Amino acid sequence: MTLKFGTQTTPHMLLQPYRRGAWQASEIRPYGPLTLDPLSKGLHYGQSVFEGIKAFRQPDGSTALFRPELHLERLVSSAEHFCMPAVDLKPLLAKLCELVSLDADHVPDPPGSLYIRPLLFSDHGALIPEPSSSFLLAVMLLPVGTYIDKPEGLRLRTQIDSIRAAPGGTGAVKCAGNYAGALRVTFEAKEEGLDEVVWLDAHERCFLEEVGTMNLFVVRNGRLITPPLGDTILPGITRRSLITLAKDRGIEVSEERISVDQANWNSIEEVLTCGTAVGVLGVRELLHEDRTLFDAQAMGPVTTELAGALDGVRFGTSNEHPEWRMQVR
Ligand SMILES: Cc1ncc(COP(=O)(O)O)c(C=O)c1O
Repeated sequence: MTLKFGTQTTPHMLLQPYRRGAWQASEIRPYGPLTLDPLSKGLHYGQSVFEGIKAFRQPDGSTALFRPELHLERLVSSAEHFCMPAVDLKPLLAKLCELVSLDADHVPDPPGSLYIRPLLFSDHGALIPEPSSSFLLAVMLLPVGTYIDKPEGLRLRTQIDSIRAAPGGTGAVKCAGNYAGALRVTFEAKEEGLDEVVWLDAHERCFLEEVGTMNLFVVRNGRLITPPLGDTILPGITRRSLITLAKDRGIEVSEERISVDQANWNSIEEVLTCGTAVGVLGVRELLHEDRTLFDAQAMGPVTTELAGALDGVRFGTSNEHPEWRMQVR
């Protein structure tokens, strides 16, 4: 059976309310609808942040989460940005492991995985411009297959007439509104037969930033290059992991701006994307206005090497970075 990404959950979920100035006890209960005040600020004003973590079936049949503490730290920093209370990470991580362990029979075999979606939003029902006093943290588990089934690589184009993020905005925050704002252009690109758009910087509209739910790298002369983080790019945990895996292999990595206008696109050997959902995926074609900046017939050697290295750590088939895995059962 093919699992369509994001459509199916496991039987249980975790809920933790914040009431009267304090987080209440978290509770694991059967997955099901929530009762919400229709005036909830999370719905009206987008006071809503989330994470995407993955757990993988290991060779011994156990399940391991990939770098969950980094994801939860990012959740806390997203929450702070949106005036939401920080949650205590240690007990949350322990409860999360309990939830995954309870539903561990639903972790698909490789190449599938368990997608873990923590969501934190204001369920304070009041349309007043004052701080919310109640929040809900919900964690859902979704057995998933391949996120984008494009082993031959992605077909992308740059997005010229709209932007995802501007300096001083919320581009580095994993908030619901960033994804709502990207829906229309993503659907348009799909109607054109493309897979995603590459967002450009807000000012000059000439520097590559990121792609849909993925960070972006290029390879030039065997060197891995990725746009530097700032407040317009989500600081991806896969991006950070790939930088380490590349350096471990003696591949030089640099964080520098990548312009669509640079004369030497001919010297770009590979373009690749990465994220929790997708892992590592090569780019087959990158279009900009009426030009093809890059095309490739097959996944390049650096992309292939890093994709294998990342999956080795995630699925526990390599000895590299065991500290990136948190074993639950
Ligand atoms: C906008 C955006 N950029 C990049 C990424 C990749 O981040 P990560 O590797 O932490 O999943 C994601 C996915 O979370 C994303 O939504």
